[in-house]
Amino acid sequence: MRYASITDRLANLGAEKWAVHTEARHRKDMGLPIIELTIGEPDVPPDESLLAEATRAMHAGRYRYSNGRGEPSVVDALVRKYRTRRSDVTADNVLCFPGTQTALFAAMLGLVEAGDAVLVGDPYYATYEGVIAATGAQRITVPLRPENGFHMKAADLEAAITPQCRVLLLNTPHNPTGAVLSAAEISKIGAICRKHDLWIVCDEVYEQLVFDGVFASPFDDPELAERTIVVSSISKSHAAPGFRSGWAIGPAEFCTRLLSVSETMLFGGQPFIADMTAYALDNRIPTAAHMRDTYRRRAQRFAAALEPVPGLSPLPPEAGMFIVVNVSGTGMNGEAFAWRLLREEGVAVMPGSSFGEGAENFIRLSLTVPDDHIDEACRRIASLATRSTLPQERRA
Ligand SMILES: Cc1ncc(COP(=O)(O)O)c(C=O)c1O
Repeated sequence: MRYASITDRLANLGAEKWAVHTEARHRKDMGLPIIELTIGEPDVPPDESLLAEATRAMHAGRYRYSNGRGEPSVVDALVRKYRTRRSDVTADNVLCFPGTQTALFAAMLGLVEAGDAVLVGDPYYATYEGVIAATGAQRITVPLRPENGFHMKAADLEAAITPQCRVLLLNTPHNPTGAVLSAAEISKIGAICRKHDLWIVCDEVYEQLVFDGVFASPFDDPELAERTIVVSSISKSHAAPGFRSGWAIGPAEFCTRLLSVSETMLFGGQPFIADMTAYALDNRIPTAAHMRDTYRRRAQRFAAALEPVPGLSPLPPEAGMFIVVNVSGTGMNGEAFAWRLLREEGVAVMPGSSFGEGAENFIRLSLTVPDDHIDEACRRIASLATRSTLPQERRA
């Protein structure tokens, strides 16, 4: 039988990126003592009040069909949230989606197609490759250099631009590196986007988890308003990934045009999830502040333990749920190191190669485990690194 070419374009871009994680789960199920540092799942539950609100809404009959844009409860809450950042936001600028991932997928589908190109920093979040490939557009990478703290530089962006480029897919705070772009950096990037008439799709799912520096976004710059779309969710901010509640905020025409894409795809979301999300956005919920402090402290713990280890070079994040470690000093790339670490030491980490060529020499460790797991994981990582790292004189 024949299949559409999208299935070829997305082959190897789905579960394959998480192969170490899948194998780790398999080994865990067999009873092996695996320490899992792979995916970015918060290790705290959502606030009890969110569960109570979702339950209340369900019992109040909020389980009927909704509409394509989103329930008024959550649309209004999103207007209030984004008005604190730009005063011209109205309900016309809001579209609800089940998570950042769907919002990203739909937005990209609405902006590019075969013959177009999308610029994205490398390293990049693992699903971006598939999101761009699904549309048929070409992916053009902009190097995010470790010596720049993985911050995108306007000159690197401009050097990568071709006449086919239509969109810059930006991610700040950044996964996997934890880089947080400053307002000044965004202003320079924005100037390039205006010059070349590019859309900016900005994934801000880690907005609430900034440790160092101040969160900034192209959305907050009125000069970039006509070309900026923000995608985000409550997955990370409220430790609620399984609720699948996210959104896209963009120009009114973009939202109107994308509404039919969303309606065709989803036929609306769940009203009780919408009410819970509105509650989460409108109230002071302590979850993000708690995670921010905890993840900052854990990143420091990882860095302190791994810094002295021969062959390893941890790069502490400015935000988020991960720390990346350069393992090239061990003579291995991230992929080889991650597989050996799982097989020989029972520690599961993400190989950098899942996040683009720019991360090939890295592994990514999740900050979502308690201190005793971190200490034991570092002991095992150090053990593999030490026995693999050749002394300088033997390397020469
Ligand atoms: C950068 C980035 N974007 C999007 C997502 C997906 O978020 P959501 O659960 O809102 O779909 C993740 C999840 O890890 C992420 O790290």
